[in-house]
Order: sequence, then structure tokens, then C-alpha cells
Amino acid sequence: MSIMRGKQIVLGVSGSIAAYKVAELARRLTLDGAAVDVVMTEAAKRFVGPATFQGLTGRPVLDDMWALPEDGVVGHVALGQRADLVVIAPASANTLARIAAGISDDLLTTTVLATPAPVLLAPAMNPHMLANPATQANLSTLRQRGMTVIEPAYGRMAEPMIGQGRLPDIAEIEGLIHGLLGQRYGSLRGLKVVVTAGANYEPIDPVRFIGNRSSGRQGYALAAEARDRGAKVVLVSGPAAIEPPAGVELVRVETAHEMEQAVHAALPGARLLLMCAAVADYRAADVAPRKLKKADDEFVLRLVRNPDILAGIAQRSDLIKVGFAAETDNLIEYAQAKLERKGLDMIVANEAVASIGSAESAATLISADRLIQLPQQPKQQTAAAILDAVETQFAARLHMQNIRNDTT
Ligand code: C5P
Repeated sequence: MSIMRGKQIVLGVSGSIAAYKVAELARRLTLDGAAVDVVMTEAAKRFVGPATFQGLTGRPVLDDMWALPEDGVVGHVALGQRADLVVIAPASANTLARIAAGISDDLLTTTVLATPAPVLLAPAMNPHMLANPATQANLSTLRQRGMTVIEPAYGRMAEPMIGQGRLPDIAEIEGLIHGLLGQRYGSLRGLKVVVTAGANYEPIDPVRFIGNRSSGRQGYALAAEARDRGAKVVLVSGPAAIEPPAGVELVRVETAHEMEQAVHAALPGARLLLMCAAVADYRAADVAPRKLKKADDEFVLRLVRNPDILAGIAQRSDLIKVGFAAETDNLIEYAQAKLERKGLDMIVANEAVASIGSAESAATLISADRLIQLPQQPKQQTAAAILDAVETQFAARLHMQNIRNDTT
């Protein structure tokens, strides 16, 4: 079930040309089951009509702090009091300045001043306005007060100029909203989770590599699901076909060696490792320093074994380890053998051809005493089912009070 379901979100829209983009955010949050109250500043209404937001959220757009009839609570503070999260997107320089100064001269600033909920700010403005020391000082004040500020994106502005000040992708804002709600309400809140995802590229020469067809979809879905449940997620990702989720710490790697090092660096303090990456078993024995030229009809490439990342941490009994097995035959039998050989708590067995690179999977979850067959479904749902099973089967270890901080 989406973390958004039943949540009260205040979406503040202030005066910036990027205001039209957040109509999509209002739509997505509403479709995910949230009650989205859009609050517009006077300037925002010059950029987009309230009817757009009203149509997308199915709720009236609010702009008048004197016109909020509420039972028991004084109208103008009611919105902020009952909100699970306040997000302001786009946040204009003027709105940021008013919030930083504690001014409450309209419904949006009053709501922010009166809310105990987390506040997420997505500034979007002209690059000179963003770089202005006044705006920078306001942003740093707001950060210090515990508000989350999304870094504006760099690129082409509405005016003919290139610079920093664009509203980030809606998916990024959405991901951060999910993360903040997870940290407040999620079942994994406060826990550190390490997820590996994607393929490995093992170089042959400066332009060629040995790779595999892993798209990163299952690992990215797991990272997003753990984030939505409030975990502090480190996502160690090899090359992948899709954009990584927002609101996680992303460590990009290419080779199995780099992945092993990144996993070891991420493990201190972690409670759960989801080893979803399709790690390369072999690498070229010698990597050519220059591009190889074709010569003979045959070319022999010598490969050597890569380290097994899971085997290297098999002794870590404090860490719950979930491995993944993609096989073309004898799926369950091979997966069960790997569960034992690699010292895993659970292994997710997938039919390789159907699952690798695809948007869906039909996984079997195998642990020492259980075998759960999941239906063919989108990888997001598989991710949720995997974390449900981990939370059910290893609840005590997951929420154990003291953990060792070493990686051996
Ligand atoms: O042995 P096999 O590659 O099928 O095992 C798959 C599981 O082991 C996956 O969880 C994968 O991420 C992990 N693995 C690893 N190090 C390797 C190869 C695979 O940790 N060198």
C-alpha cells in the first residue's frame, strides 16, 4: 500500500513560471491516495488557474485565510495543524523570504508557521535571484530550522539563459515526499538499509566491456520501497537502464570490485542488505590500456573470477542478508543451495529470461523454513512483498537495540 494513502498533504504553490509543472505533482499524489490541499499565493494565480489544481485534486484550492470554516480550530491555522506534510513547489524567492522572516500574511505562510509537520521546499527562480546572498541566507536559515530544501536544477530557464534555478523533476520531489512521510510513519524508520542494483561493466579496453542485461528495476524498486518505509537507504548501483529513486544515498559503481568496496563502506550501522545487483562473476585478466585493434579471425579473452561479495560477509550474523538468484533451470534447487552456501537469510529466486530487464517478475522467496511463491507482478509490488516477508520473518533482529558497527 502506498505511503501516500490517507495522508493530508498541503501543496503550497507560489509565484514562479514553474507553477504549471506541479499540476502533475498534485495529480500523482492524489492518484496515490493522498488528500491534497493546494494553497496558492496571489502571485501563483497569475501563472496557473486554480481550476487546474481543483480538477486534479478534487478539492477546492485555498487562498483566503479568512475563509476556512473548521470545527474547533481557528480556520487559518487548521490546515497546518492537521497536515502530515507541507510541500512548497515552486517556492519563489519572495515566499522563501517571508517564511524565513516568520511572516504570516497569507494562508500559505500562516500554514507553514503553524505546522508541526515536516516542510519540503522546492525553490525555482531566476539564477540571479537564487544566487543572491539574501536568498542564499534565507535558504540556509530554513535548512537550519529543519526544513528540507531540494537543490534547484541546472539548465535552460524560461528566459533565454542557462543556469541554476529550475524546478527539479516531479519524480524527484515525489520521492522526497515519500521519504519524509516514511521517516514519520514507516515501519523501517531509523534503520539503515543497503541495496545493490543494476549490472556490472568489466572493462576489456578503454571502450569495451563485458556486461549483462540487468536493468536495475528490481533493486531501484526495493530502494524506493525501503525509503517509503522510512529507512535510511544507501543504494550501490552499477549501470542501469532507468533513473535511480530520489531520497536515497546513491553510490555509482561499474565493476564488481568497485561494488564490493562500496558495499563494505556502506555496511557499518546497516541492519539489512538487499543484494539485488547482477554482479559479474568474471573480469578480463588484463585490461588493454589502448583500444584493441582487430587482427586475426579469432580473439581469445582470458577471464578471472571476481570476489563473491556476499561470501565475503557471510560471517555478519547481525546483518539480515537477502540474495537474489536468477536461473534458467533448476531454479528452486539452485537458489536453495545458494541460500546455504552464501549464508543468507533469504533468497529471491527468479526465472532469469522472464525477469532480467523486464518490468515484471514472478519471484519465489526462500528462507530456511519458508517458501513463498509470489504472483507475476510489477517489480514495485515484488519489492513490497520482499520487504513484508523480511519484516515478518526477521522482526526481532531488524529492530534489535544494539548493533555492532564493524563490517567483518
Ligand atoms: O551465485 P550467483 O551470482 O547466482 O548469486 C547471486 C547472488 O549473489 C546475488 O544476490 C548477487 O548480488 C550475489 N553475488 C555476489 N558476488 C558475486 C556474484 C553474485 O555477492 N561475485
